[in-house]
This record gives sequence, C-alpha cells and structure tokens, in this order.
Amino acid sequence: MIGHPIGHSKSPIIHNYWIAKYERAGLYEAIDIAPDDLHDGVQGLIKDGYAGFNATIPHKEALLTLCDTLDPIAKSCGAVNTVVIRDGYLHGYNTDAFGFLENIRAYKPDFDFTAGPAVVLGAGGAARAIIAGLINENAPIILTNRTREKAEILAREITQNAGQGGAVTIVDWKDRHNALSGVNVLVNTTSLGMVGQAALEIALDQLPQTALVTDIVYSPLETDLLKRAKERGHPIVTGIGMLLHQARPGFEKWHGVMPDVSKFLEDLVLK
Ligand code: ATR
Repeated sequence: MIGHPIGHSKSPIIHNYWIAKYERAGLYEAIDIAPDDLHDGVQGLIKDGYAGFNATIPHKEALLTLCDTLDPIAKSCGAVNTVVIRDGYLHGYNTDAFGFLENIRAYKPDFDFTAGPAVVLGAGGAARAIIAGLINENAPIILTNRTREKAEILAREITQNAGQGGAVTIVDWKDRHNALSGVNVLVNTTSLGMVGQAALEIALDQLPQTALVTDIVYSPLETDLLKRAKERGHPIVTGIGMLLHQARPGFEKWHGVMPDVSKFLEDLVLK
C-alpha cells in the first residue's frame, strides 16, 4: 500500500490475513511515499520485485498517467487503487466499484439494481467509483451534493466515459429529502455521520419501505442513517464490507486466488 500519510491503513491487516489463510508466499506492507516522490517510489517498487500495490490518497489520480494500461472502470473513476507489476509494466485497476457492488450482493446475491433509481449523497472520490459501479449495473442515478457544481462535473465526466449507459439526474442538496420517493437504493458517500464529523441530515419519510440503505462510513459501523433506516424497516448494508470486498481483486491478481470476506475478518479489521 502506498500513500501519504499511510499510518491508519487497514489494508495490511486484510492482505496479511489472507496471505496466511491461503498459505501464499509474501508480505503486504504500507509504504509512505510523498506526492513528489511517486515516480521514483514506484520505480523502486518495480526494482525491488513487488508483484504490485494498492494506492490511497494522494496517489490515486496521479497513477492514471504512470500506469501503462488502465481498466475501463479506473478510467471512468479517474483513479487507480490497485496496480499489478508485470515485466516492469504497470497495469492499473480501480476495485472500489466492485467493492461497493459486492458488499450489497453479499447481503442479497440477486439484488436488482435496475428496480428503481439509486440516490447517491456526495460527489467525492468514493461517489465516483460507486456511480461507475451503479452505471455498470444499469441503475438510474440521482446525485445530490452540497456543492452542486462538483456533482455536475462528476456526472458529465462519468456519463461521457460510460457512453449511453449512464443516466445521472442532479438534485440540489437542499432538496435531497424529496428525491427519495420511488428510490431503490440510498447510499451515503459523504463523510457526514462519521465519528467526529457532523451528522447527516436527511428525512427518510418518502423512501419506499423496500429501499436498501447503505453508507460508506464504517466508524461507527451502524451510522445514524443506518440506525434510522433499520428502525423504519429498510434493509441496511454497513460500509465495512466495501473496504473488505475492494481488496479482493488485487489479492486475486497478485496471488492467484480470489479470497473471501468473513465475519472474522470484519471483526479483525474493526478491532
Ligand atoms: P472521498 O474522496 O472520500 O469521497 P471527498 O472527496 O472529500 O472524500 O468528498 C467528501 C464528500 O462529502 C463531498 O461530496 C462533500 O461535499 P462537497 O463536494 O460540497 O465538499 C461531502 N461533505 C463533506 N462535508 C459535508 C457537509 N458538512 N455537508 C454536506 N456535504 C459534505
């Protein structure tokens, strides 16, 4: 894992657990690389014989130009979080969309993303990956963000990349409460509701009882949004699974086995 700073990354716990579980040779390390040192730092990883790496803030965007090949999802997300090094070449992927979708499928394997619109709260990096995933599943999307312009830029860029597939409607942040009628999925991608952050204010009255509610915040594991949704009888999916599932494709590429996600691993990461 490369990033700056890197201290709080959970990825070494996840990958080293899988390395032991699946009896693979290797070690997953967290390496701090400052933004100005990215090129040299990555060259160092190639020289040292690493099979690849994950990237976090602030390297995800810069890796787009450093990689020799990019998967389509990394292109539409405008960010790389997983790199395979092969014969000195860098192959870039983004697995966050996969992580988001798999987390919901772990709850309901045949979840129908086309059954109605998905409302996405927030327009940062996480929203970008989640919207790319939802477009891939042909879900109509309603996007709302405090800064409307950021939502407009995101929608424009991502629908250009997705071609005809992407339908993103933008709603003003102040009108978010009224955007919930007839909705299939509600996802919070903002930092609101996280320990130490402001609360997420959204009235759930108009949300259909069957709508699934999920949050990328996993500290606390059951956010106020998820608690309120649960009380209203909605199916809920916590955010920790997205972190765990997004790690799986990288492990598969480096070690040749698709690892699984378990309650044990979830508890280990949350400890
Ligand atoms: P990430 O890359 O993890 O998604 P980010 O790019 O910092 O993080 O995005 C944070 C998101 O939370 C943004 O959508 C941000 O809204 P703005 O684009 O208007 O900044 C949203 N957010 C953060 N604090 C907020 C607040 N107090 N009210 C509403 N939205 C907030």
